[in-house]
Amino acid sequence: MSTQTPLLTTPPMPLQTDPVASAVREGLSAQRKWLPAWLFYDAEGSRLFERITHLQEYYPTRTERAIFTGYADGIIDAAVRIGAEAHNGQQGSLRMLELGAGSASKTGILLDAAVRRQGTTEYLPIDVSATAMDEACRGIAVALHGVQVRPQVANYVTDTLSIPPHAGPTLALYIGSSIGNFGPEEAVAILRNLRAQLRAGDSLLLGTDLVKETAPLLAAYNDADGVTEAFNLNMLRRMNRELRASFDLASFRHRAVWNAVESRMEMHLESTRAQVVRIPSLGLSVSFAAGETIHTENSYKFTPRSIAALLDAAGFRTAETWNDERSWFAVTLAAIDSR
Ligand code: AVJ
Repeated sequence: MSTQTPLLTTPPMPLQTDPVASAVREGLSAQRKWLPAWLFYDAEGSRLFERITHLQEYYPTRTERAIFTGYADGIIDAAVRIGAEAHNGQQGSLRMLELGAGSASKTGILLDAAVRRQGTTEYLPIDVSATAMDEACRGIAVALHGVQVRPQVANYVTDTLSIPPHAGPTLALYIGSSIGNFGPEEAVAILRNLRAQLRAGDSLLLGTDLVKETAPLLAAYNDADGVTEAFNLNMLRRMNRELRASFDLASFRHRAVWNAVESRMEMHLESTRAQVVRIPSLGLSVSFAAGETIHTENSYKFTPRSIAALLDAAGFRTAETWNDERSWFAVTLAAIDSR
């Protein structure tokens, strides 16, 4: 046996401490290729999503905003009532916590209602992105006097939440149907993580997109201006930039499909030809057959029953629901009872 050092060695496996690198390695090595939806949100992706929320076809954002505009006082009333019932009428002022901070323009409607009711209110947004948080907080602070903003940079999906104590009830917001990006089990885990940090008298306001006819769903994820297509393709651009990958954007097309069995919209990137894409910084070559796709997003659509089941599994009691007149979107208030 030779003890000589071989002249040719394969380069050492690159260390994967970068979450983007490990997500891409895992997803593109899988039998059925996939990438996590959080990869959409680099600076360009966040700009594109903001454009999506203004599209004529993309109804969720404006529908949820209309529900808040119509019922903000009733929502804040109900949350205050849940707090009062749990503490025999003795309580400090309502504060608001939010999972994610990208939705600050809609949150402002609820903060404004709280300030009108009680003079001031504390607002605790929790987001992984310090940049997104900065922007959201600046907007809120400028527009709304009486709101004390206390941002927290944390990942509410992977990290255990830690929320500072407070004398009054907490209304936690998880709006924008953000929960829809997660499968049923992960959705329950996220809400349980939140539930563990709340007390009797606190509540959760959950915004969920609802099951409806297929046509408006397909249109919402396949807009005529191609903004959603650009949003989806941006994931490839991001890998090219951050991982020196060689995706040819012209040979992938945007696909949005309704999966009735799983009750979700799915987005895919479909390779229009057989090709091999190299990702040198991962030491990876990825082969695509013509027509093969990368599954980039699930966007679950709910029913009143599936919302109640989700909340129940996470330890919440459904208290009240507000809808738009077409019942395309639901805003559900869920209480934490003493046990
Ligand atoms: C931000 C996850 C609620 O699922 O509708 C928009 C993201 N994807 N268009 C959604 C999205 C394609 C959005 N959420």
